[in-house]
Amino acid sequence: MTHDAIYKVTPDAAKITLTTKEKAEADRARAKENPEEFWASVAQRLTWSKPFTKVKDVSFDAKDLHINWFEDGELNASVNCLDRHLEKHGDDIAIIWEGDDPDTHKNITYREAFEETCRMANILKARGVNRGDRVAIYMPMVPEAAYAMLACARIGAVHTVVFGGFSPDALASRINDCNAVAVITADEGVRGGRTVPLKANVDKALKQVDSVRFVLTIERTGGKVEMTPGRDLFWYNEARNDVAPDCPAEPMKAEDPLFILYTSGSTGTPKGVLHTTGGYLAFVAYTHEAVFDYRPGDIYWCTADVGWVTGHSYIVYGPLANRATTLIFEGVPTYPDASRFWNVIDKHNVEIFYTAPTALRALMREGDELVKKTNRSSLRLLGSVGEPINPEAWSWYHRVVGDGKLPIVDTWWQTETGGILISPLPGATDLKPGSATLPLPGIEPAIVDAQGNFLEGACTGNLVLTTSWPGQMRSVYGDHQRFIDTYFKTYPGMYFTGDGVRRDEDGYYWITGRVDDVINVSGHRMGTAEVESALVSHPAVAEAAVVGYPHDIKGQGIYAYVTLMEGTEPSEALEKELSKTVRAEIGPIAKPDLLHFTPALPKTRSGKIMRRILRKIAENHFSALGDTSTLADPSVVDALIEGRKNR
Ligand code: PRX
Repeated sequence: MTHDAIYKVTPDAAKITLTTKEKAEADRARAKENPEEFWASVAQRLTWSKPFTKVKDVSFDAKDLHINWFEDGELNASVNCLDRHLEKHGDDIAIIWEGDDPDTHKNITYREAFEETCRMANILKARGVNRGDRVAIYMPMVPEAAYAMLACARIGAVHTVVFGGFSPDALASRINDCNAVAVITADEGVRGGRTVPLKANVDKALKQVDSVRFVLTIERTGGKVEMTPGRDLFWYNEARNDVAPDCPAEPMKAEDPLFILYTSGSTGTPKGVLHTTGGYLAFVAYTHEAVFDYRPGDIYWCTADVGWVTGHSYIVYGPLANRATTLIFEGVPTYPDASRFWNVIDKHNVEIFYTAPTALRALMREGDELVKKTNRSSLRLLGSVGEPINPEAWSWYHRVVGDGKLPIVDTWWQTETGGILISPLPGATDLKPGSATLPLPGIEPAIVDAQGNFLEGACTGNLVLTTSWPGQMRSVYGDHQRFIDTYFKTYPGMYFTGDGVRRDEDGYYWITGRVDDVINVSGHRMGTAEVESALVSHPAVAEAAVVGYPHDIKGQGIYAYVTLMEGTEPSEALEKELSKTVRAEIGPIAKPDLLHFTPALPKTRSGKIMRRILRKIAENHFSALGDTSTLADPSVVDALIEGRKNR
């Protein structure tokens, strides 16, 4: 092990009980030797109404692409997350809800979660939502968001959760892409002491939508909202009173869709990543247990939003399938002050804590005292996800939050992968700050160069997966060809992640970030093309080019170069207006951090924008611009550098 291993696994390491080095090695060897037997044993952890006999039928060949796992088995995800725990553990706590206001929280038992889910399933059915129909969920972080997801799963409807921070336009385009027939929302969300007008946003979105027949509104604040008769119902004051707390579960085929989750790519509009039932659920339950050393009864907190894949896999499906107590937090890390995370950990005796580097960097800036004044002695494991964690943030997390005693699992994965692929196994993996370490058992990453040649040993290149795993996405909803083109054409026969990676001499993986036109802003994935298209929708904008640049807190910031229509002058007012346009088209998370008005963009003689140069300028790397002689007008670059320096 090279010198940069800072956390060595020792036999008594931090109350980790599940995995040992020997067990992890044995699992890896077993998975390599007989992957089908390994994954079959993983899937046995679920309750199947009809057992599977076939484990895997997969081809990564673009001409015959198919991915099927446990294909002839049948199960229901909500039964696996709820019903099967009831007999012996119905009174155990399934969900701890911590409200935005530090004085509000609720403990919800498995039986209560089951009954609420059934009620919601019944109202969906009563309003004509059928197996296979799509249902959009646009919710704050309340337990009802989990019930809504599980209610869809119960009746075989396919949910698509849309992050509550997305604008009405963004919501409308997602609903239209999958022709959702119903929307589940709340009157208002509450975050950091402020309300978010979710139902009003739904009303605006639905002006552009024909497919939605039913809108269910959870009363979170009781704030005044408009209701469209015949279409809209309140949950607590109306619908819930008329439905039974029991609802039979649809037996689903393993490969029936469970959900669609929209995510940004390097081109075009967001893709509807499609996940199916059996493989996904088995994979997230297995990884939740293995990576977080999870034992039933542990209090586990993942701070993500259910609008992202992390919330799907590691707040709802994985934990509940494992009979966990999963904490759902409505608020933000800095409200009422920057001790909030640590106070919540003490309040609920959280044992396992999973968050994003961007939150850690923001909190680190507030000073150690806000952490140190809290107890945190319940903690036994820390996790990180969503973006590369810089060694400074890792060390602060380890030293200050974990008092130098707790392992950190830096988990690498993607919306497309469904669950964690590269991560330490606590108790088994020595850690290095900034490295996601090693692939989990059964996961076969490889590193290729630009031509697709495999690189061996210590090397840097592009990250691919050479074989399938059960949690892998199955398609882009409504556009299977796009799935093939995006992931399986760059390197034939392999799944291309879009990430760059380095492997060190110990075989450890260090994710370096996206190698495509996707940027990662505060752990949120953003397509530069989407932001550009929002900017050019403004009549004053002729052309826009968006790139990422290093940002102390967000990891990457959004840098937008904008050229204006002939006769339009740059101004602060226009800058504000453009910002507003992006918020309206996508949402506040897509707002450019830096907006650079420029008379021209660097283009090749054939008119292609040279993004490489724009990236370097945004990064303040003026000496590393490379060859600019192919530009139609090289003087553009000097003007851009001048403009960058003034920012
Ligand atoms: O670039 C990688 C980065 O986040 C991308 C996936 O984003 P998304 O689909 O939104 O899923 C985020 C939650 C899993 C990846 O392509 N990423 C995610 N986790 C890590 C990471 N980069 C480095 N280290 C990680 N642990």
